Amino acid sequence: MTTDEDEDPMQRPDALTGWDDEHNAELYDRFTREHTFYTDASRDLAARAGLTGMQLVIDLCGGTGVTAAVLLDSLPTHGRVISLDSATAMQAVGRRHRDHPRITWITAKAEDLADHISTPADAVICNSAIWKTNTTAVFAAVHHVLRPGGQFVFNIGGRFAGLTDREPPTTASLNDLITAIAVADYDYIPPQQKRRPSFTAAILRTQLRAAGFATVTTDVVTRTGTLEEKRAWLSIPLFARPPGQLTHTQRMNILHKAYEQVDKTRQVTTRWLLVTAQA
Ligand SMILES: C[S@@+](CC[C@H](N)C(=O)[O-])C[C@H]1O[C@@H](n2cnc3c(N)ncnc32)[C@H](O)[C@@H]1O
Repeated sequence: MTTDEDEDPMQRPDALTGWDDEHNAELYDRFTREHTFYTDASRDLAARAGLTGMQLVIDLCGGTGVTAAVLLDSLPTHGRVISLDSATAMQAVGRRHRDHPRITWITAKAEDLADHISTPADAVICNSAIWKTNTTAVFAAVHHVLRPGGQFVFNIGGRFAGLTDREPPTTASLNDLITAIAVADYDYIPPQQKRRPSFTAAILRTQLRAAGFATVTTDVVTRTGTLEEKRAWLSIPLFARPPGQLTHTQRMNILHKAYEQVDKTRQVTTRWLLVTAQA
């Protein structure tokens, strides 16, 4: 079995645009219900926050409420969740599929969190999103809304965190094949320069301490998924590859061809930095 660690299938950097599209929001939510990736990641974060006895937890960049639903399972029966996200479409889908009397939905930017929260929160959790925000502003806002000793827990995709020590794969990944087919069939020109990781543990520690957080811990975790799960994820228009001028139909043709060729024994492995900070 070979691994696929450089794939980071959940972490395409240019995936921010499109969250406010109803179709993407519905397909994203369907993916979260048919595959366990986002629920499992949310459970990891909830476990680290130690939610026992907490009354108010904020699900930051909460999307369609996957994390909010996980949090409700772990909170006492009087515990409440505020799910805040900037995309109206994501929240509309969340309200439709996961509404609950103990979830309050707020459509706003994470950077403006402090303008929307009047009761001190016990914890703020952010799954699979923080690197899309202005972290300096968001960390200050999170510190402002937490009670003293409150927990802030979030994860960062390995590529953005600079997690590089991994075994080189021995066969072409689904992403490698997608790029190769796009180049051969559609004259696609892949970008030459790799981005520098902006969210290493060291950078995050500095930013969190500057925002007033007293203690910060960081951990690396590995998640393993299936090629089928990755194919389903890459079928959501928001995440479909490669970026650029191709149509969605062309991208789906490329994905179909790549899936036919990929070594089906490959695992899809992603690495994540898990960060816990205490106010
Ligand atoms: C990959 S989804 C994760 C959603 C949710 N946390 C989950 O686990 O399913 C990323 C979410 O971040 C939201 N987002 C991105 N930038 C944001 C910002 N600056 N403020 C609030 N939400 C933001 C997007 O609208 C999207 O719903």
